This record gives sequence, C-alpha cells and structure tokens, in this order.
Amino acid sequence: MKIAIINGPNLNLLGVREKNIYGDKSFESYFDLLASKYSDIELEYFQSNCEGDIIDKIHSVGFDYDGIILNAGAYTHYSIAIADAIRGVKSPVIEVHISNVHTREDYRRVSMIAPACRGVIAGFGLKSYELALIALTGDEE
Ligand code: DQA
Repeated sequence: MKIAIINGPNLNLLGVREKNIYGDKSFESYFDLLASKYSDIELEYFQSNCEGDIIDKIHSVGFDYDGIILNAGAYTHYSIAIADAIRGVKSPVIEVHISNVHTREDYRRVSMIAPACRGVIAGFGLKSYELALIALTGDEE
C-alpha cells in the first residue's frame, strides 16, 4: 500500500513557526515516527511552498497511490487549482489540518478543497496525519 503525505506552504517551519498553534515538533521527526509505526505501508513525504509543485505532485502520485494525505496550508482556503487537481486524479485525498481551523479566523473556516476530498480531519495536532492514515488504510491499531 502506497500513501503520500503532501504538505503545503510554511509547513516546512513546523517546530519553529507559531508553536502555540502548531507545536514544537518538526514534521520530519514526526514523519520518521509514523513511518516506523506503519512500516508495512509505503509512506512518502513531500513538502512545497509553491502551488504548482503541489499540483504536479498530486498528478504524479494520484493515479497509482492508494491515497493522499494533504495539508495544503493556506492554499486550502483559496486554491481552486488544487481542488481541480484533486478532482482530476483517482486516489482518494484526505484534507488534514494540525489546528482546528473552525476555532480560528473566519477565512480559515472556508475550504476550497474539502468538497473534492474524501474527508477532512482537523484539530488533533500532528496526530491528524495518523488519523488520516487510519482512515485511508482501515488500520485501527
Ligand atoms: C493549517 C491551517 C491553515 O489555515 C494554515 O494556513 C496553515 C496550517 C493547519 O495545519 O492547521 O498553514 O493547514
């Protein structure tokens, strides 16, 4: 089983950026833990601050991977292009957020990509990614 985790803009700064909201762990260290816990799954991680690169990555994995876990960062709230990319591929995509976007600024309550996604998980910190993985794989361990 192959799953890609795609992180969008500013998520390369996890562990440094707004720690009160996003925590003090880097995504790389979290990813290593996740990959070793779910060693039976081929997990891949990609991050970009550029909309086009995120779209290219969705296209390149979206026809043969079993799922995509996508935290599009702020693009979530306004990228019709990423929503179209999700609609254009075959793999199910789960929208993920570290913070509970519904408790924050009004503009974060809007998601352009949610209607194109299989489901949405938000507000559980980095654990949101593991919950998305469980949703995609059906593994409840
Ligand atoms: C985020 C929430 C977005 O509103 C924000 O722009 C981010 C991170 C989250 O994971 O909570 O960059 O996607």
